[in-house]
Amino acid sequence: MGSSLLIKNASQVVTMAGHTEASAKQDVMRELTILENGSILIKDGIIKAVGKQKELEHLYKNDMAEAEVLDATGKTVTPGLIDPHTHLVHAGTRENEYAMRLNGKSYMDIMNAGGGIHATTRATQEADFDQLYDESKQRLDTFFQYGVTTVEAKSGYGLSLEHELKQLEVAAKLDEDHAMDVVSTFMGAHAVPVDERDNPEPFVSRVIEEMIPEVARRKLAHFNDVFCERGVFTPEQSRRILEAGKKYGLIPKIHADEIEPYGGAELAAEIGAISAEHLLKASDKGIQQMAENDVMGVLLPGTAFFLMAEYADARKMIDSGVAVTLSTDANPGSSPTLSLPFIMNLGCLKMGMTPEEVLTATTINAAHAINRADVIGSLEAGKQADVAIFNVPNYLMLSYHYGMNHIGGVIKKGKLLNI
Ligand code: NIG
Ligand code: FE
Repeated sequence: MGSSLLIKNASQVVTMAGHTEASAKQDVMRELTILENGSILIKDGIIKAVGKQKELEHLYKNDMAEAEVLDATGKTVTPGLIDPHTHLVHAGTRENEYAMRLNGKSYMDIMNAGGGIHATTRATQEADFDQLYDESKQRLDTFFQYGVTTVEAKSGYGLSLEHELKQLEVAAKLDEDHAMDVVSTFMGAHAVPVDERDNPEPFVSRVIEEMIPEVARRKLAHFNDVFCERGVFTPEQSRRILEAGKKYGLIPKIHADEIEPYGGAELAAEIGAISAEHLLKASDKGIQQMAENDVMGVLLPGTAFFLMAEYADARKMIDSGVAVTLSTDANPGSSPTLSLPFIMNLGCLKMGMTPEEVLTATTINAAHAINRADVIGSLEAGKQADVAIFNVPNYLMLSYHYGMNHIGGVIKKGKLLNI
């Protein structure tokens, strides 16, 4: 006999059902299916049925009788939240740079002086597997405490074959050992190593000829990402790196137009990237081309908040038909947070998204952005039972009572976690 769990009588179950394509345009992003007094029957880690308690009692009498029961009266139940853009695996913190920025230095000044990504690269290169594993594991534990049940994780603090593989192997081991699902992205092109900045071409060649083939051979990543930004990688270099990844089956993603408009959104559209990420300074033309080519926009308002920069124009993207997702960008330099619910608050309060849009963005759209929408992102029969339970009576409270952690329980693959 398998194990069954019944989440019973939630004040609201927000199912996100029916979004088989990434939801673009406000009318679709705002479409939530909400069941009042809803219940979810889970069997062997898979959702068996979602419906009103009375209906389920009628249809699944036997299963209901043997199930462990979780009373969700007065609570709001959503799909487990999904964070589609993190720099999970890294060593250390950079609070000294935060203080420097508050004293007037810019993020790029600090990076150009050898700090920023370079500082974390040094720390990550020095760290051994176990240190990186332990630090990252703690971050995954914290993600659970905020209702997140799947994260994407980028490499990019190794900047050499040896250390990029180390980061990706840590992510793979955590995916195996930890209850969290970790979906890996290779991001060897996150920065040009400090001593090669005057002549980046040999590094670009190493990414293309050495790192991408080996990462693909070891099956350590699904996606390939590049930091396309003035002073980091040009659109031309980014194109070559992403095209090279495509030949090895790595799906392109791109850090685009974060600090200035630089053609990143346009490049994402041209090469058929699954998503362009950041987009604080994306041009109107780039947004249009993303919409026309079904490139998703992964928006990271925590980065704008923490760098005290302008926010990405989420409204323009959604209104133009770009399917938008939200993410923490969790990293030690531009967004040291692990709270996706706070990012959802920023989505509403700083980017003018509606509470419905931010829920779509952090569930089913986020699943689409990491190619997992067939398994996660909605509460529908047949999907993996990843569920977040919040101690509030309706979903509006999640963005209304901002900056608070409302989590009441997290279910991963049908098991209630001890968080
Ligand atoms: O997504 N933009 C580039 N990479 C990260 C920041 C990494 C860091 O500062 O350590 C980002 O913002
Ligand atoms: Fe990032």
